[in-house]
Amino acid sequence: MPVPADSVPVKKAKSFPLYRTVAGFVRDPLLQLQRINESADGELVRLGLGASRPYLATHPDHVQQVLRGESENFVRDGVFWRPLNRLMGASILAEGDDWELSKRVLQPVFTTRNVNRLTDLMATAINEAVDRLVAPGGGGRTVDGLPEMSRIVNETVIKVLFGDKISPVESDRLIPAFDQVARSIAFRFLLPFVPRLIPLPGDRAFRAAVKIMDETLFELVDRYRNDPGDGDDIFTVLCGARAAAGSELTDTWVRDNLLAMFATSTETTTLALTWLWPLLNDHPHVATRLYDEIDGVVGTERVRPDHLHRLPYVHQVVQELLRLYPVGWMFPRMATKPTTMGGVPIKPGDAVLISPFLTHRLASVWDRPLEFDPDRFLPENVRGRHRYAYFPFGGGPHQCIGRHVFNVEAQMILTSILSRFRPALARPIPPMPRIGATLRPRTNVELALAPLTGARAS
Ligand code: HEM
Repeated sequence: MPVPADSVPVKKAKSFPLYRTVAGFVRDPLLQLQRINESADGELVRLGLGASRPYLATHPDHVQQVLRGESENFVRDGVFWRPLNRLMGASILAEGDDWELSKRVLQPVFTTRNVNRLTDLMATAINEAVDRLVAPGGGGRTVDGLPEMSRIVNETVIKVLFGDKISPVESDRLIPAFDQVARSIAFRFLLPFVPRLIPLPGDRAFRAAVKIMDETLFELVDRYRNDPGDGDDIFTVLCGARAAAGSELTDTWVRDNLLAMFATSTETTTLALTWLWPLLNDHPHVATRLYDEIDGVVGTERVRPDHLHRLPYVHQVVQELLRLYPVGWMFPRMATKPTTMGGVPIKPGDAVLISPFLTHRLASVWDRPLEFDPDRFLPENVRGRHRYAYFPFGGGPHQCIGRHVFNVEAQMILTSILSRFRPALARPIPPMPRIGATLRPRTNVELALAPLTGARAS
């Protein structure tokens, strides 16, 4: 709810100069933010980010005010969103009418009923992708966790995006291009105040990837025009809406939304799953409970969507994973009208940063916040918690529409891997992530995969 301006004494937010040079900021902004967060303990603070001076709002009441109570006032605009807006102008990641139209078209794809229709397709893709973790001859092998998670997630997401409308050759071309685009914009997202004319790392690779992505996507859209077919996949739904709307919607609108969906669905899921392995490695009692549950329910079968209802601990582990590593770690908003937050006046044009990473680590909100403890998500422990103490998927009108897809996908990938392997880290991973648009481990996550039995791992 908006805080009536006259009910709270006017205060000034504490100011923290976050960095003085771009290089310093890029080196370790997260550590600095976490320190500020600890010392402010939920109070609104103002960050000195050079030319830009955003507020940082981490108290659950303030998060609620921005994302829900005053969501029409706090919009996705301003310096932090410009790189994304330029790239996916009229997509579901925009604001106002563009966002509303794309959301109206895409929302029905994400109903529980429709996602459940896609889950068999996802299970097949996941089991086949996990098959490829098996070493030739069926023995154990060591893999680099992040690219392997990325491969499994991409092979699954491409089914949700395109169903059977894309050939293996086309997806082999599109996935690396999509990936490159998503990674390259991270620099612009991190350094939004650097003018476009100043080249940044990744710019050239970005342009080349956009070209490949566009060629492939526009070819697919042309093919749809000649042979629409049907399907519950996102591509078919977007092309159908474009055909029904006539000139009101363009091929570029279809492309913008496909890129937006890929960007929001792959990197997030990949990184969340990558963080799982160091956590399980460091908490063997959690790993043992997972093995026992999965052994009892899945045994030597291939994982199926209907197994998930009988795997409550798998669900808890995934929720706690997103508490410690909410990979959409920060999302900015810009105020459009004057208001107050915790007594501090906010002016139109002011940026307010919301960070699940920081709220999820507040000692005043969470008991033992840095400890990995999936029992926090036992139903009796969830009851009574502030709605915005835990918000890895955001909240309010822009809440992540893919959260059900993520839950099904992540639980099936985790279950499929653990029903066949006993993974162990080849070497420890620093627990503090390196940030870009998402949260990445600082070193490679080398995973030694010991197959359970010859029968399962083949
Ligand atoms: C670990 C996995 C994921 C995380 C942590 C995550 C997080 C988020 C967050 C925090 C937002 C809100 C952004 C904001 O308020 O500005 C969001 C929005 C969104 N997410 Fe996700 N997401 C995940 C997976 C997915 C998946 C799998 C999909 C699609 C299949 C998806 C599609 C979207 C879309 C389209 C939006 C924009 C919704 C709107 O503005 O109306 N996400 N996500």
